[in-house]
Amino acid sequence: MPLNQLSSYKKLFLSCLKTKLRTQIRYISRSRTVLSSLETALEQNKTALANAATHFEFHGLWPSVEQQHFLKDLRLHTNFITTEEEEKLLEEIEPYMKRLHYEYDHWDDAIHGFRETERKKWYPHNRTVLDRVRQLAFDGEIMPYVHILDLAAEGVIKPHVDSTRYCGNTIAGISLLSDCVMRLVRVDERKYQQGKAIAGPAENAGKNENQQTQNMPTEPDDVYRNRPVTTLENNFYVDVLLRRRSLYIMSHSSRYNFTHEILANEKSHFQGQHIQKDRRISIICRNDP
Ligand code: OGA
Ligand code: MN
Repeated sequence: MPLNQLSSYKKLFLSCLKTKLRTQIRYISRSRTVLSSLETALEQNKTALANAATHFEFHGLWPSVEQQHFLKDLRLHTNFITTEEEEKLLEEIEPYMKRLHYEYDHWDDAIHGFRETERKKWYPHNRTVLDRVRQLAFDGEIMPYVHILDLAAEGVIKPHVDSTRYCGNTIAGISLLSDCVMRLVRVDERKYQQGKAIAGPAENAGKNENQQTQNMPTEPDDVYRNRPVTTLENNFYVDVLLRRRSLYIMSHSSRYNFTHEILANEKSHFQGQHIQKDRRISIICRNDP
């Protein structure tokens, strides 16, 4: 073989080798990134599970499959933000919030003793915190508006399921200023499945009994919150201790199959201890339906 041909073969061989090597290096570095994000997720799930052991108080007879789903679908991160981050968030929220009045007018409403707002633009340091929520709860996606709810010390959030018309499968909330107890009570399984709320009596007209969804009595709903009546007897539920500066991520079964509520201060107990609920501000992120 002529020498120049041999050298061009050699060049070709070397360049193939280089390309292959480059592909392999790219592949290895991509795998490393995947591995490290898996490790982070695993670590976060471990902490969330450890938190469940100390911050969930289960009541009633929970079928074990239900409980397994629940533990996967309600994740709690205590100390999600630092005291400095809490201060910075309050610094941004408070000037606007303090101009609003707490609403006590309609006892029928799902929330009593509250003021609220939505915010799209945030100072960069606070945006960083919300980005952490976005990564952890929504895989990088989030609704552009963040809901801020200021509940007075004597305020309550009554049992409800967030409307499937306005809110997707995940709700994530950071608690500021005060600890509180969130109660989640099991509702009829068929009631609020992803993307479809139960048909009302009018929509059921003309259907036979099997096609009809059970007509349970309901409390008045508002646009954003459905209020099915649930009972604590013959039912199972859980009380969750939401510490100040914690983040909860409520998704899938915990979001659709359970009502959630924030207990009034006089009913605010966890494992036999009174949990003093003072003024509490929650920063709530939701995804689109
Ligand atoms: C709501 C709600 C919970 C919270 O606004 O619908 O359930 O953590 N808020 O304040
Ligand atoms: Mn809600």
